[in-house]
Amino acid sequence: MTIRAARCHPSASQPDGPSVHRRRGVAVPAVVLVIALVGAPPASAEARAHPCPPGTDRPWCDDALDPHRRADLLLAELTTDEKISLLGGEELFGAAGGEGTHTGTSHGIDRLGIPTMYFSDGPVGPRQGQGTQMPSPMSLASTFSADAARRHAGVIGTEVRLKGNDVVFAPAVNLMRTPLNGRTFEYFGEDPTLSSLITAGWVRGVQAEGVIGSVKHYAVNNQEGVGVAIPGAPIGVGVIGSRVTLDAQVDERTMREMYLPSFRAAVEEGVGTVMCAYNRVNSDYACENEVLLQQILKGDWGFDGFVLTDYGAAKNTVDSLNQGLDLDIWPGVVYSPTAVQAALASGLVTMETVDEHVHRILRTMFAFGLFDRVPYPDDDTRIDIDLHHEVAGQLAAEGTVLLRNDGGILPLDESALGTLALIGPEANLIKDGGGSSAIDAYRTTTPLRALVDRLGKDRVVVRDGSDAEAAAAAAAAADVAVVVVGDNMTEGKDKTAPTLDADQLDGIDRDALVSAVAAAQPRTVVVMQAGGPVLTPWREQVPGILQLWYPGQNGGTALARVLFGDVDPGGRLPATFPVAAEDLPTAGDPRQYPGVAEIAVYSEGVLIGYRHFDANGIDPAFPFGHGLSYTTFELDDLRVRPAPAGSDTIATLSYTVSNTGDRTGTAVPQVYVGLPAPDADTIQPPRQLRHAAPVELAPGQTRRVTAELAPDDLSYYDMAAGDWRVAPGCYTIELGHSSRDLVDEVILPVEDECAAATPPARGPAPPVEGAEPPAPGPAADVAGSGGDAGSPSGAPLPATGGGGGALAGAVLLAGAAAARGMRGRRRQPCGWSPPRESP
Ligand code: BGC
Repeated sequence: MTIRAARCHPSASQPDGPSVHRRRGVAVPAVVLVIALVGAPPASAEARAHPCPPGTDRPWCDDALDPHRRADLLLAELTTDEKISLLGGEELFGAAGGEGTHTGTSHGIDRLGIPTMYFSDGPVGPRQGQGTQMPSPMSLASTFSADAARRHAGVIGTEVRLKGNDVVFAPAVNLMRTPLNGRTFEYFGEDPTLSSLITAGWVRGVQAEGVIGSVKHYAVNNQEGVGVAIPGAPIGVGVIGSRVTLDAQVDERTMREMYLPSFRAAVEEGVGTVMCAYNRVNSDYACENEVLLQQILKGDWGFDGFVLTDYGAAKNTVDSLNQGLDLDIWPGVVYSPTAVQAALASGLVTMETVDEHVHRILRTMFAFGLFDRVPYPDDDTRIDIDLHHEVAGQLAAEGTVLLRNDGGILPLDESALGTLALIGPEANLIKDGGGSSAIDAYRTTTPLRALVDRLGKDRVVVRDGSDAEAAAAAAAAADVAVVVVGDNMTEGKDKTAPTLDADQLDGIDRDALVSAVAAAQPRTVVVMQAGGPVLTPWREQVPGILQLWYPGQNGGTALARVLFGDVDPGGRLPATFPVAAEDLPTAGDPRQYPGVAEIAVYSEGVLIGYRHFDANGIDPAFPFGHGLSYTTFELDDLRVRPAPAGSDTIATLSYTVSNTGDRTGTAVPQVYVGLPAPDADTIQPPRQLRHAAPVELAPGQTRRVTAELAPDDLSYYDMAAGDWRVAPGCYTIELGHSSRDLVDEVILPVEDECAAATPPARGPAPPVEGAEPPAPGPAADVAGSGGDAGSPSGAPLPATGGGGGALAGAVLLAGAAAARGMRGRRRQPCGWSPPRESP
């Protein structure tokens, strides 16, 4: 039996000023809870000695040796008992987030100087006493910026390290299949390319701080379950479709194309550890899943770090040992000495298997320098709290999305403004999500605090929104109304509806409040502190809408800076905002979500997020990639320059972006690729993001942006072949401001499938609008000769098949194709028309 330890309310946010400590618990065995209640010793009290002191004769201490070799040498010294002790964690209470504890710890071995490893949550900040509460990962994803991800991770990495930790349980990278997922705020949205970009930047940033990343939750952990949230409890409990019992049934193509790329990006970036998830994937639990752990992670991707459990996710000693779980970090029961000894004695597990797990753990410790330094002291007095508060505020502004700006209501003119009515239950709060990302913030600057600091007390009229009539009256009497409304999200349980009002405990109807204020004050700006996409039934009633997400502890400052135009709202949507709940890809069939009999069938395949909306012709309320600026941008002149044969890329894209307004601002041009369907059974979304880059431009400034198009960008996962393939056909390369605001396109034929639509391919290729001349080399020859099949000899080159041959073929073919590429003004795909208000 498990029960839940009391911990803080999931989204209780501290009003202005310093925070009080908040605690979090996790599912723990009853006996553990009893011990916890009578008090557990802090885990970090022992002295931390250098594992390899100067003059030591331990051979593995030679840092000139390869980490692999050093692990070999150390492994050879270990007794069986010592090896087994390294497989299980020992900190039972740290998940409560108390000062002086760690979320997790491994066992050290004093005899050989093997240091204990210390682990901390998480994606929003450290959970070990107080820490800087950073903007939520969804906010970060809205920046579309790997550099922002590095800065975000830099703050968390620094704090985690100064609190004496070696590993951080982050980034969290599960894709948004449904915005109902209670952990939507913790992830990077609905698109694998964007999520991978942010993931890679985050891993780079955190590991640059000397902290090992632990990418989670591997894999297909896309819901927490329909369940209950006990008022005041810090975490929900999923009951139907619960993360701890659910089997996600997903085909391999969908998994490889949608749910795995972010993990792969982390591995390619050199992440040191991977946290396996609670749920099952195609029948087997993720922490004992041969396909996920052995075949894909350690096999295909060559991951050489170690796999650790989500808390309590290990179920079976033999299966976990045999299928790739290296460390049972919490509670360490499945890999307890008794359990592992029994597994060995049964003959179902070999000593070689145990050795492999231990070797991975040790190799990672060597690779990340844990033997070559004094263990990090737990001394968080060295944290620069002011600096981190400022970085949190800057990133929150960069992640804020201006969804609507009719008549240029924003930015507000501070000097011309008389009074501002600040309304709403989230006006004096910083919203956050419940669970392992609930941070005990050092301080919070709420919207109210920031606006009062800015305008003075007398110019800000405050109503909490509990009385809609009073709020409307205050709005009517002011020059402008700013309504701050948020949603409720927590780990452990999904939202019951994709709305602001779902699962709220205060009885305030936020949608009705917005409508009431909008009816009274035409100059109304809605600010949403929502963790993910929500319904916005009032969106046509108000001229201004800002999506602030869960903005972190300095969110109020970010809001004030955006409202008054100190900074451009830099964010673009990492997830589609639907018009109605029925429009979601998982709506209408409980077998898809939340699952029936604890099985969720991912029958929508790759059609999630905007892929679903585009393929089914459904208009969103606000599309993926959308976000306005205070200036205006023009995108133009998309060109595709074929790569020379033998190169790793297919082509170089380039386009022009100009700031046509009169303020400095950040454009986020986006390039989407539409892949041809190789057969009737392989449904391809109309477009998939392949490139995006924030570009800050001064008024009148123009920049030419270039980006590489890699074979991966044109590939789909061919299940029959068990490999990635480039299919013959016509590839549509689109450039736009969002997935529904596309301004330019080039058709890139691969093989001769587009011959009918291309100019006659005889003699030198005619000049084609939009296609740059090919680079010198064989690809240029092919393009120039315009051979029908795209090969120098005229013989068709295979566009399919794995390995270098396919790549070379694709490059050559693309080279030929691009010279014959077509481009034209892009029609808008569906009825959604982008708001293009000038400021
Ligand atoms: C969460 C993990 C977290 C762990 C430790 C689990 O409940 O799923 O994301 O890292 O707790 O707090």
